[in-house]
Amino acid sequence: MSEDSTRKTLAVALGVCLVCSILVSTAAVSLSKIQKENRKRDKFKNILQAADLYSKDIDISATYREFIRPRIIELETGETVDPSMSDLLNVETFDIRAVAMDNELGTRVPADKDAAQIKRKPRFMAIYPVVKQGQTQKTILPVYGKGLWSTMYGFLALNRDLKTIDGFTFYEHGETPGLGGEVDNSQWKAQWQGKAAFDDQGRVVIEVIKGQVDSSAPGAEHKVDGLSGATITTRGVDQLVRFWLGENGYGPYLDKLREEMADEQS
Ligand SMILES: Cc1cc2nc3c(=O)[nH]c(=O)nc-3n(C[C@H](O)[C@H](O)[C@H](O)COP(=O)(O)O)c2cc1C
Repeated sequence: MSEDSTRKTLAVALGVCLVCSILVSTAAVSLSKIQKENRKRDKFKNILQAADLYSKDIDISATYREFIRPRIIELETGETVDPSMSDLLNVETFDIRAVAMDNELGTRVPADKDAAQIKRKPRFMAIYPVVKQGQTQKTILPVYGKGLWSTMYGFLALNRDLKTIDGFTFYEHGETPGLGGEVDNSQWKAQWQGKAAFDDQGRVVIEVIKGQVDSSAPGAEHKVDGLSGATITTRGVDQLVRFWLGENGYGPYLDKLREEMADEQS
């Protein structure tokens, strides 16, 4: 075979392809465990951020395990369920999209009830109570809904009084930086802390308004500033928060907790 024969060229090209594909697949297989671990770590970090337990120097896994007592609830009844009924209900790797799309574990949201524009939702959700000295201080509730360009995924921290918001953070969205992307702005996020999500009758009253809240006006305690130049994202946040705190979201679970709280006090 001459040095520059077609067969030799093809053989060399095939050999290079083979070596490269072996290298790429070996890298993909060996890195997949690390990627899975990183995804889990990132989720823990986001939950700790929503819980106001995150700072750069903490051991994320240790802090998560010390304070977070995750569990799976059935949204319709508010009951805690046994996660062993499906691999998808693992609290640490819980993937909202996968559970929502599952035939058994997810359900369609009828258009007239779909304020968050999510089309499907999980029937079961992982929630993350924050427990200190044996007492639940707050509960981190996963929420999601449509903005302008994307479905926005976040965590809402609800105080143990079951009325007050303790924190809110989005961990995934595709809104425009500087406009809808200002949902990541720490000053905007800080406003949520201390806002009343519910009135005394347990009705959802939290509202993200267009423009700025007049702090001296009645009702300011349950209003949050809208994002300027981003009316659609603002409306999306307003609707997704109200959806998830309402009867088609965590409402039944929160009603159950309120009843338990009233029983304890009586
Ligand atoms: C390039 C570009 C990106 C935009 N990104 C967003 C966005 O992320 N969220 C949003 O609500 N509006 C976004 N807008 C603006 C909307 O199209 C719309 O004009 C706006 O929501 C109206 O808000 P306003 O009533 O406060 O002006 C964007 C507009 C442009 C041109």
